[in-house]
Amino acid sequence: MPDLAIIGGTGLTRLNGLEITRREVVQTPYGEPSGLLTHGVLFGREVVFLARHGYGHTIPPHQVNYRANLWALKHTGISRLLAVAAVGGITGELRPARLAIPDQIVDYTWSRAHTFFEGDLTHVTHIDFTQPYCGELRALLIHAAREARLDACEGGTYGATQGPRLETTAEIDRLERDGCDMVGMTGMPEAGLARELELCYATCAVVANWAAGRGGVRITMQEIETHLTDGMAKVRILLEHLVKLL
Ligand code: HPA
Repeated sequence: MPDLAIIGGTGLTRLNGLEITRREVVQTPYGEPSGLLTHGVLFGREVVFLARHGYGHTIPPHQVNYRANLWALKHTGISRLLAVAAVGGITGELRPARLAIPDQIVDYTWSRAHTFFEGDLTHVTHIDFTQPYCGELRALLIHAAREARLDACEGGTYGATQGPRLETTAEIDRLERDGCDMVGMTGMPEAGLARELELCYATCAVVANWAAGRGGVRITMQEIETHLTDGMAKVRILLEHLVKLL
């Protein structure tokens, strides 16, 4: 059974250094996951990897089958799930290429399949989501980032927007008033579904750009790619330290 599952987002469609042992097709009651599950060994630990947007990066955030992805990963027997996700930086500390380990979420997404608890129910279930991320995995991430001297931001609120378009300046102003430090398009319903499956789930956010109206520059795909390349190099170092702590 893998020690850790990793969902890679934009900029992380494959895990460098992963010694692949097998690829697994998983059928789920919720349809197809974003792709095959890639099983392998990373720095001596068994891990399973899934590219959130598909291995060719073709599935936009609002069309990711989050339920199938989470169900498929849960089926491998994992208990810990690390999500890597690109974000826009809203507040001052979250400059491009920096890593952040968020501790809260505000959900602005809509009409995404966001729960396993519907349909043929014998009773209604309300999960506790006071702390949306797993404290234990967050602590390991923070420890690993300190050890690796990565200067990661050790908290922050993730605002989950619908996408695929980026936001307006007014929308980002509103998110900031709501207390959001970073904005991304995939954090929900992923985190909520992970909690429904009782997985220990945490996010390593990689700041790809200043959010709309911040930083004084127009957001270009080229800027995003450059910062993500720098940020993902840090994620790889983080993973090397993280797996040793598991
Ligand atoms: N907004 C939303 N999602 C994002 C952004 C952004 O600016 N950058 C990377 N993912």
